Amino acid sequence: MNFKKDFPILNERNITYLDSGATTQKPIQVINAIDEYYKTINANVHRGAYSLSIEATLAYENAREKIARFINSTFAEQIIFSKNATESLNLIAYSYGMENLKKDDEIVLSIMEHHSNLVPWQKVAKTTGAKLNYMYINDEFEISDEEIENKITDKTKIVGITHVSNVLGTINNVKKIIKQAHKKGAIVIVDASQSIPHMKIDVQDLDCDFLVFSGHKMLAPLGIGVLYGKKQLLNEMNPFLMGGDMIEYVYEQETSFAPLPNKFEAGTQNIEGVIGLSAAIDYIESIGYEKIAEIENQVVSYAREELSKLKFLELFITPNKENHSAVISFNIKGVHPHDVASILDNYGVCVRSGNHCAQPLMRYLGIDSTCRASFYLYNTKEDVDKLVEALKKAYEMFKKYMK
Ligand code: ALA
Repeated sequence: MNFKKDFPILNERNITYLDSGATTQKPIQVINAIDEYYKTINANVHRGAYSLSIEATLAYENAREKIARFINSTFAEQIIFSKNATESLNLIAYSYGMENLKKDDEIVLSIMEHHSNLVPWQKVAKTTGAKLNYMYINDEFEISDEEIENKITDKTKIVGITHVSNVLGTINNVKKIIKQAHKKGAIVIVDASQSIPHMKIDVQDLDCDFLVFSGHKMLAPLGIGVLYGKKQLLNEMNPFLMGGDMIEYVYEQETSFAPLPNKFEAGTQNIEGVIGLSAAIDYIESIGYEKIAEIENQVVSYAREELSKLKFLELFITPNKENHSAVISFNIKGVHPHDVASILDNYGVCVRSGNHCAQPLMRYLGIDSTCRASFYLYNTKEDVDKLVEALKKAYEMFKKYMK
């Protein structure tokens, strides 16, 4: 099955798009849903007694319910809309971390966290006197069970873990991490930004305390993110942002806050983003995660095989295929990744190069940066062939300058 036909940009532009880890392209169904929203029901939500505003509010709240069903959250009010995963993580850091941690408590993260699930915790640690510890990876680019057991201890109060690494594509054993954390009385925040586009997320089955993701990495527009949190925790937390719609009563000196979810949604929200996210979920569900996995497995397995044949490449992927998602980081030995990426661009191949917002991981791996090809349901084996051909050409070009 070829889904490229649904993605106007992939038909308009002669490109091989391999940067879905940064942002996915958008299907016409999502683009049309946003267009339709503006043409037919645009109004601010929760603010009008007139029918247009009521319709917009209904669409907005129906989307919340759809997302709750999508990730199997028992209550819709456990779904909070944000700008992106980064904002969701900052909300947790400020409204939970700052208020619940004290000196010598421990926060445990993995060394493969994106800066968004790392820098806020540095701030929390500095402010509260808590310690920041890391679970490191082994030679197979995975966190071992022993590492999980050794690092999550009685002192641990918060564990932050990415479900899938945006650099390595490693699928972390989040269930094991959550079990260990709960045994020790800690709460767990799962960053699902790189997993939810590819695999079914069930927050009850995972039993995570918080889970975050961005819409734009799963076919939805930019600027819409989600925070899921267990109701009891969210109820006990103070709001992160203050302003309109998150209040109950405002007096000159005091304010009482609205119940969930509004308590965490200050100001006019990204309604078109919510509508687009809802349409993206419809699109994913119309195909089904099983089918998505089947397509991706074929393409990613083929990419693993073909790239492994290029002896001038260094690959940063686990040998255990079952623990590997749709991201492949690589370098042409001796050539800067930015140079490689710009040669690939000459052949229409779009990959990301750089540190991928994961500098501590790069340092741990002893490198500065990588090239990264990330795949999604619209990619095909032909895209892999184009990447391989372009890499061969790049190597031929750089070879003469190598020692
Ligand atoms: N976090 C996104 C990435 O990994 C932008 O590329």
